[in-house]
Amino acid sequence: AVDSPLSLLTPEEIARLLPARKPSAHKGTFGHVGIIAGSPGKTGAAAMAARAALRTGAGLVTVATPRGVNDVLEGKLLEAMTYPVPDTADHTFGLKALDLLSAFAAARTSVAIGPGISTQPETVELVHRLLAQIERPCVLDADALNAVADRPESLARCRASLILTPHSGEMARLVKADSGQAVNRDRLAVASSFVAVHRTIVVLKGARTLLAHPDGRLAICPTGNPGLATGGTGDVLTGMIASLLAQGLPPWDAACSATYLHGLAGDLAAQAHGQAGMIAGDVIDQIPYAIGQLS
Ligand code: APR
Ligand code: MG
Repeated sequence: AVDSPLSLLTPEEIARLLPARKPSAHKGTFGHVGIIAGSPGKTGAAAMAARAALRTGAGLVTVATPRGVNDVLEGKLLEAMTYPVPDTADHTFGLKALDLLSAFAAARTSVAIGPGISTQPETVELVHRLLAQIERPCVLDADALNAVADRPESLARCRASLILTPHSGEMARLVKADSGQAVNRDRLAVASSFVAVHRTIVVLKGARTLLAHPDGRLAICPTGNPGLATGGTGDVLTGMIASLLAQGLPPWDAACSATYLHGLAGDLAAQAHGQAGMIAGDVIDQIPYAIGQLS
């Protein structure tokens, strides 16, 4: 079960965790996901996280994005809204967006920060200041993790429940290991000691994704395949976790369920397109069928 110390996630337990849709439900029942994402060249990351959040069942999804890339992002999204904020000269997130983004996060049910935000120094500073203010359950991914690796003490200052989703290279930066390979030599120990120190949930991605909780719980995800090694699949996972958080799942349950469903959607995408041919958008398209297999 999810609450034993080291478990392999099973379809039965994940099926029990997924939110039911009561006949009386309305979109407010399923929460409003806020995604802070995007910069020039990286609006696809923001769009994929948003679409994945919607396909996982969130009632509403809004992407806060630098004003200069908003039109491009809007062109990629129908069902998700965008929230353009004042940006820097190079159209990345800057400090003048701090108050707006803080209010944006406070008005959402869950938050995800990081897909395609860049590692510009002012964006890094913004991430640190946001972490000091944010209170909604929050997923940190990609460049938000690179910002945190700079100053890990920002995690301790944050009052929100945090779920970090590093791949092995990002984990190496977070724990000052030499490389992703060094992390992969001892994934269990690296993830366990990180969560013990920083008191966040970690989803250490890669072949056999490992989940770690500061209370000692550890889980391994049996779904997924090397076809997922294609740009954007991490952004899809981020949107899926934020979606289940917005639908009211406790952070650990949201992380385990989203990771399991993401791998299963990846397995279905590989059946349809082959491991070489599948792309991240195919994984998004398979999310409803992955959920269907479990219900
Ligand atoms: N087997 C199973 N799953 C895999 C495998 C594999 N061999 N390889 C990758 N995956 C899964 C991972 O578990 C994860 O869920 O694919 C996903 C890849 O996520 P990321 O590594 O974050 O890749 P990506 O989406 O391309 O990231 C986009 O964010 O992290 C940054 O540097 C990254 O700039 C890039 C951006
Ligand atoms: Mg990534």
